[in-house]
Amino acid sequence: MLQHMAKIDDLATEIERQIRTGQLAPGDRLAPVRQLADDRGLAPNTVAAVYKTLAARGLVQGEGRRGTFVTSRPALRMPVDEPVPDHLVDMARGNPDPTLFPDLAAALKAVPSKPLLYGSEQVLPTLAAAFRSGFDADRVDSTELAVVAGALDGIERVLGAHLRPGDKVGVEDPGYSSVTELVIAMGLRPTPVAVDAQGPTPAGMKTAIEEGIAAVIVTPRAQNPTGCAVDQERASELRQLLQRHPEVLAIEDDHAGPISGADYHSIIPELVDRNSDATKDRRWAVVRSVAKSLGPDLRVSALAGDATTIARVRGRQALGTGWVSHILQHIVASMLTRSDHQATVAAAAATYAKRRNALQRRLAEHGIPTASSSGLNVWIPVDDEASVVSAMERRGYVIRSGASFRMDSPPGVRVTVAGHDHDVLVAAADAMADILTPRSPRRGA
Ligand SMILES: Cc1ncc(COP(=O)(O)O)c(C=O)c1O
Repeated sequence: MLQHMAKIDDLATEIERQIRTGQLAPGDRLAPVRQLADDRGLAPNTVAAVYKTLAARGLVQGEGRRGTFVTSRPALRMPVDEPVPDHLVDMARGNPDPTLFPDLAAALKAVPSKPLLYGSEQVLPTLAAAFRSGFDADRVDSTELAVVAGALDGIERVLGAHLRPGDKVGVEDPGYSSVTELVIAMGLRPTPVAVDAQGPTPAGMKTAIEEGIAAVIVTPRAQNPTGCAVDQERASELRQLLQRHPEVLAIEDDHAGPISGADYHSIIPELVDRNSDATKDRRWAVVRSVAKSLGPDLRVSALAGDATTIARVRGRQALGTGWVSHILQHIVASMLTRSDHQATVAAAAATYAKRRNALQRRLAEHGIPTASSSGLNVWIPVDDEASVVSAMERRGYVIRSGASFRMDSPPGVRVTVAGHDHDVLVAAADAMADILTPRSPRRGA
């Protein structure tokens, strides 16, 4: 037995090294179990156990008869974005516009100079109060609250509190690639939930529930990449579906919060129909990040949820990182409690809306409809992502292929409008139209 375990360990470490050094690249197929077993003089069940170990660590994914493949972003290397050359306009990164953030220098002055020692509370009371007032305005019960290091940290902690490797997680399709990749890295199995202009479709949610998802992650607004937002009617339809499935952990990723430019409508039955008995056992969480409104480097998010979920998250946090630095918590609390905070956020939301509209209106004039209604990005359905991306680059614009955001959904490209002014956006729309609109044939040709 011990020898069997040692063999599993050795081979798993060897394959892990091949993935780390790039000998095996994302998407590469591993040798079939029997072949590798023959080559190495091992029993097939030893090799199968190695692949299972690597899958639980999110490094490979079994795809039935097709074989076992290296995952799209194995958690061994830090991906670094290629710098965009100066002569090109960067519409690919999905970043917020830093000129719309509140003044960092003023907030830094709010940090007490007295060092904080071990043994203090995890969450700064002034920050908790500021987060709670935002949650109250949206009727999110934040009696139980944790402060985590960003939306993805919150999602990881909530998934980790309840799920086991191999569990299925409903993820939006198209959806934010890092969420899907995080799910895979945790040894969980992403299951697509189709998305349209109003968010996850009821049919998509129903299919995912029927496939046995243990959790679902939904972006209520500023959906990435599509820019869609869940409206009141869709939220109600999704709540009705989830109401019948209290076993599904429901997570809302409100990563852009108030700068999304769309109202928040929850898909979690317990948050809206609070007196309903049928669903009181559900585990749920809403994570609200300040990354897009105050700046991604703050790494601070509020996590509201049911008592069990938040206790597990906070308890686990206490054993590991302990807390999110109070220096950061002070900075965020100071920004959120400034008298002009609401106005700053409203102005940023309005600016992003104006920028989306500039691109979308011009595209519409060219006969190219788009459905994005919130956030920093506009999604444009296209037939051939790669050729549109390279044709745009030849015209001076770097945009993002939709390929990394999709599972079963149709192709498209993502254009980040966040940091660009009207004229750039109109020119980019003209370039896109030049590529997408078939020219009328020349007479006599
Ligand atoms: C849908 C979605 N979730 C989460 C994040 C990351 O948020 P955070 O930086 O707070 O982890 C992003 C970033 O763009 C996003 O688009």
